[in-house]
Amino acid sequence: MKLGELVTQTARRFNAARLHYGHGTDNARDEAAYLVLRGLDLPFHADAGIPVSDADLRRVESLVGRRIRERIPTAYLLKEAWLDGLPFYVDRRVIVPRSHIAGLLHAWPGRVRRALDMCCGSGCLSVLAARAFPLAKVDAVDVSGASLAVAERNRRMHRLEHRLELVRSDLFARLRGRRYDLILTNPPYVPQAAMRRLPREYRYEPGLALGAGDDGMDLVARILEAAPAHLYPGGAVLCEIGDNRAALERRYPRLPVTWPVPQVFLYRPRSGAVSRTPARPGRAR
Ligand SMILES: C[S@@+](CC[C@H](N)C(=O)[O-])C[C@H]1O[C@@H](n2cnc3c(N)ncnc32)[C@H](O)[C@@H]1O
Repeated sequence: MKLGELVTQTARRFNAARLHYGHGTDNARDEAAYLVLRGLDLPFHADAGIPVSDADLRRVESLVGRRIRERIPTAYLLKEAWLDGLPFYVDRRVIVPRSHIAGLLHAWPGRVRRALDMCCGSGCLSVLAARAFPLAKVDAVDVSGASLAVAERNRRMHRLEHRLELVRSDLFARLRGRRYDLILTNPPYVPQAAMRRLPREYRYEPGLALGAGDDGMDLVARILEAAPAHLYPGGAVLCEIGDNRAALERRYPRLPVTWPVPQVFLYRPRSGAVSRTPARPGRAR
């Protein structure tokens, strides 16, 4: 069998098994190419006409079998995820990198000397920020020591020990006195009810990385309230919140935000503090 046929056959099996995607791919064909090519240590541009050996077929079969039966995300099977063209080590201690913030860093207008990746997980966004802003020092914060061990591995892999500092902290608790030009954050933001409906694939990810209270805004609210004190004048917060725009607007109807993409808002504090003005007078939320 040739490589291209193996990818096509694998995609057909994924379709028949009605898998869920969203961990780096959004369809059966891309997921099959990812699993087959990277499962065989081949580059994404490998020639579809390469013959596949019996040993390689067995290797792919074992990965495909687990992907279908156990619904394990391909990134965890391979211990590798790709974001914005870069590879990252991943395992179940961190969520699989897929943040929309990744695509916004190249075109960032303005100088960044200090950046913070709040809730860094695998450190994927910290690494991308360090590469997008080659003169910047980047702090990467997570409350989970297990996540930071993975971030440490990615920091080493991308040779950023000299510019990327890992900090174990409950949000800003251990960042007293530190200020930034840019705070980027992809915090947990899945509402409680949605947590209960997540497809099996997502249950392999750490609950701490996903769930964020009734409306998904628990962590976002804490970040927004603390962030102004950690920004230089003119600094900004780039925050991913998925489909929670309405929930954000209910909590902060007058927050001056813009939406570079539908899942990410940009907030530049004017007066140095977030006003949690109720949506309607007299209503707490
Ligand atoms: C959605 S994941 C994002 C990981 C990474 N930034 C990415 O985009 O792949 C959220 C991360 O927030 C961390 N986290 C949860 N609560 C936290 C807290 N109170 N303080 C700091 N980090 C927290 C979790 O451990 C998890 O790694």
